[in-house]
Amino acid sequence: MRCIADTAPRPEQGYALEPFAGGAVYLRNFHPRDIPRISEIVADALREHYEPSLYTSLSQQWPQGFLVAQDRSGVPQGFLLGVNQVPGEARVLMFAVDSRWRSRGVGAHLMDVFFQRCRARGMVRVTLEVRVGNATAIRFYTRFGFSVNDLLRGYYSDGENGYQLSRDL
Ligand SMILES: CC(C)(COP(=O)(O)OP(=O)(O)OC[C@H]1O[C@@H](n2cnc3c(N)ncnc32)[C@H](O)[C@@H]1OP(=O)(O)O)[C@@H](O)C(=O)NCCC(=O)NCCS
Repeated sequence: MRCIADTAPRPEQGYALEPFAGGAVYLRNFHPRDIPRISEIVADALREHYEPSLYTSLSQQWPQGFLVAQDRSGVPQGFLLGVNQVPGEARVLMFAVDSRWRSRGVGAHLMDVFFQRCRARGMVRVTLEVRVGNATAIRFYTRFGFSVNDLLRGYYSDGENGYQLSRDL
């Protein structure tokens, strides 16, 4: 068995690589060169379109809130984009894992590290929105202690309703 230290990608300046899942995936902060791959994951997983410039501008507001899970080759396979627009409160704006990498704990690791970073910034609450029909994500969030605050009628661009969920930290 190879040691993680033998195979880990070299950390780049300003990037803390946090290995998990036997060193198959590493968490780091977002970099603008991730945009094409993140756009691909979003198009496949979230069914919404976001302007590429949004990723850069949001990451500048809170760089530690935009986490990327990269594979051994450095290719993003999942990400969590959180924002801090309300004092003491984080909002998960986007969260997705490539379909080939799901159910391996990547999402759970992204969420755990995100919570740690929220607490380190003094936040006391996390909110997010989810499609009412997204049973997989709702189950995931429920397991992470989120509960429903509100029903958001016609929240998504195709008219689907959303739930606003939240949990205290
Ligand atoms: C929601 C999402 C990000 C979760 O990511 P993920 O990497 O699959 O999450 P995890 O692997 O941590 O957990 C998912 C499931 O795999 C299971 N799992 C985790 N690690 C596992 C392992 N090593 N072996 C087997 N199963 C495992 C978990 O128990 C969980 O099962 P459950 O949902 O039935 O309880 C992912 O499903 C996704 O990208 N969905 C599409 C986009 C989306 O809906 N995003 C949310 C929008 S609000």
